[in-house]
Amino acid sequence: MSKVILITGGSSGIGYEAALMLAAKGHTVYAAARRADKLEPLGEHGIKTLLLDVNDEKSAQSCVQSVLDAEGRIDVLVNNAGYGYFGPVECVPLEEARRQMETNVFGLSTMCRLVIPHMRSQGSGRIINISSLAGQSCFLYGGWYHVSKYSVEALSDSLRIELKPFGIDVVKIEPGGIRTQWGHIAGDHLKECTEGSVYEPSAAKEAALLHYGYSSNYLTSPTVVARAITRAAVNRRPRVRYRVGLGAKSLAFLHTVLPDLWWDAGMRLLGGPLRTPTA
Ligand SMILES: NC(=O)c1ccc[n+]([C@@H]2O[C@H](COP(=O)([O-])OP(=O)(O)OC[C@H]3O[C@@H](n4cnc5c(N)ncnc54)[C@H](OP(=O)(O)O)[C@@H]3O)[C@@H](O)[C@H]2O)c1
Repeated sequence: MSKVILITGGSSGIGYEAALMLAAKGHTVYAAARRADKLEPLGEHGIKTLLLDVNDEKSAQSCVQSVLDAEGRIDVLVNNAGYGYFGPVECVPLEEARRQMETNVFGLSTMCRLVIPHMRSQGSGRIINISSLAGQSCFLYGGWYHVSKYSVEALSDSLRIELKPFGIDVVKIEPGGIRTQWGHIAGDHLKECTEGSVYEPSAAKEAALLHYGYSSNYLTSPTVVARAITRAAVNRRPRVRYRVGLGAKSLAFLHTVLPDLWWDAGMRLLGGPLRTPTA
């Protein structure tokens, strides 16, 4: 059956591919993001596009209302908008940490709060939250990004318990390394916030690794995540979580079986030995 689906962060990467795949399967898809020019090509595939900044409550309200006005319902919300501000906790300006939490966590919760009353009155609905492997384990210099994705995990688990009685399913997608702009954005932030600090040499190495990895074919194509989102959106009984993409299952497993200090040592190897900070 055709569903009405709203995808946040539809202008690029995972959200863009998910919009294409869901529309190709005959669903009514709304892709929303801040950059109109990046959304525009989706129109050729019958996808409706909306401007949305999840950090702006009014923008979120008008986005959800536009879908309801046109379709009278929202069957599936895919909370995909998000980004990584990488950097050592000591270096990331708190306003940047807050901004990242606003987008990745509070923006996601705003979208949930706006659609839940409608899904409840429909007696059905599905909320698909794009979490991450970064919500299960910590990588070098991922600090505040991990805080945001661990929060998405906790919020999703809580919502799943709360919303089941209303016929609303909550599903987590936990991708590993996916070839999108994400790594370049995270890498740029990492470089920018460590310039002139004791972390600079190690952070430069890690940033280079992010840029290299996210341009290479080692990482998984976003279509693989789009496929998982499609399954989560349409299957009669969706799973609680879908782990897809490079390292999503293997690293999550390793993290649970390795002693913590072994994991930490492995992560430190990524950035090479740190220089001892001088007071
Ligand atoms: N790539 C990976 O390896 C990976 C792994 C695990 C999880 N994830 C998660 O997957 C999701 C999608 O990321 P991606 O890899 O596809 O990266 P991406 O290509 O950079 O896409 C991010 C999307 O989020 C949107 N966005 C960012 N801030 C927004 C805001 N304030 N309001 C509305 N939209 C906003 C961007 O659109 P505009 O800039 O046009 O607004 C863009 O469409 C993110 O939540 C990310 O954390 C990615």
